[in-house]
Amino acid sequence: MADHLQMTKTTPKDFIYALLGGLFAPGLAIFLIVMLFLGIQGQMGQPDSGDTAEQAVRARIQPFGVSVAIDPNAPRIERTGEQVYNEVCGGCHESGALNSPKFKDAGAWSKRLAQGYDTLLTHAIKGIGQMPARGGDPDLTDMEVARAMVHMTNAAGARFEAALKKEPVPTAAELARGRVVYAENCAYCHDTGATGAQKLNDAQAWSALIKQGKEYLYHAAINGTFGGPAKGGNDKLSDADTRAAVDYMVEEARVAITAADAKVASK
Ligand code: HEC
Ligand code: HEC
Repeated sequence: MADHLQMTKTTPKDFIYALLGGLFAPGLAIFLIVMLFLGIQGQMGQPDSGDTAEQAVRARIQPFGVSVAIDPNAPRIERTGEQVYNEVCGGCHESGALNSPKFKDAGAWSKRLAQGYDTLLTHAIKGIGQMPARGGDPDLTDMEVARAMVHMTNAAGARFEAALKKEPVPTAAELARGRVVYAENCAYCHDTGATGAQKLNDAQAWSALIKQGKEYLYHAAINGTFGGPAKGGNDKLSDADTRAAVDYMVEEARVAITAADAKVASK
């Protein structure tokens, strides 16, 4: 019994240890909290630490965060035949991939050259066999394709000069007729943009359309395409009158395009 009592008896020494031990843990916690608080305050007080943090963040997002302003109205820079060849056509013609006639290989080109400039250009623009239209780059203008084709064919012995087939220029009388036909049959959509028709002063829409060539536009207007009604919905209209209306529209659109270009140039 006495032994048992002896074991549980707390000596003054035990008491002091227990007391210190009990105080130590909360004391340490309070100490750490105070240190943390002072640490945060100290950091806020440092004048350039915010900048450094911001710089670090900027550096981290940099690869994604760089924004470059691209002006959608900026005039497009036409590329030379050599540039287009290097960027687009060479992908196949440099190595002769897909059995394409190889660059400078006069033998591979001779029969093709005999087809003449116009046919070759039509094939380059519209594609032929495994050769995709415009070499697969729909953004190339006809002239860019023509220059690239000339760059290639002349290297194989041709003596072409890049040019686009001249479209017949409408006479003043045809344009005057077109204006009347347009006012009676086409204006109520193409003046207002109703049903999604391209307005005549929409330079962007019309520069893309004009790039397709008059033949395409005549065909579209006479037969109706992409939501536009055939002959503007007037089936009594002659093909010639419809063409005259298209001529007039293109002429008006060219005025808008020239004005838009001038505006960009003067910026
Ligand atoms: C994806 C591959 C490829 C690319 C890119 C390509 N071509 Fe071709 N090209 C061909 C092939 C294949 C042929 C042969 C087609 C055939 O005769 O069946 C060919 C043929 C041609 C011909 C001869 C057509 C004929 O009537 O004999 C011309 C001209 C031509 N390409 C011009 C171009 C131009 C210009 C570009 C660049 C704007 C270009 N090609 C880009 C694959 C390509
Ligand atoms: C009822 C409305 C309407 C009338 C009337 C109309 N058009 Fe259109 N036109 C359209 C629409 C819609 C489009 C197609 C817009 C698109 O492709 O985004 C269009 C497109 C065209 C195009 C471009 C073809 C293309 O690929 O988009 C031409 C050219 C054209 N019209 C000529 C005419 C002519 C010429 C007349 C009068 C004889 C006429 N239109 C009357 C609604 C009309």
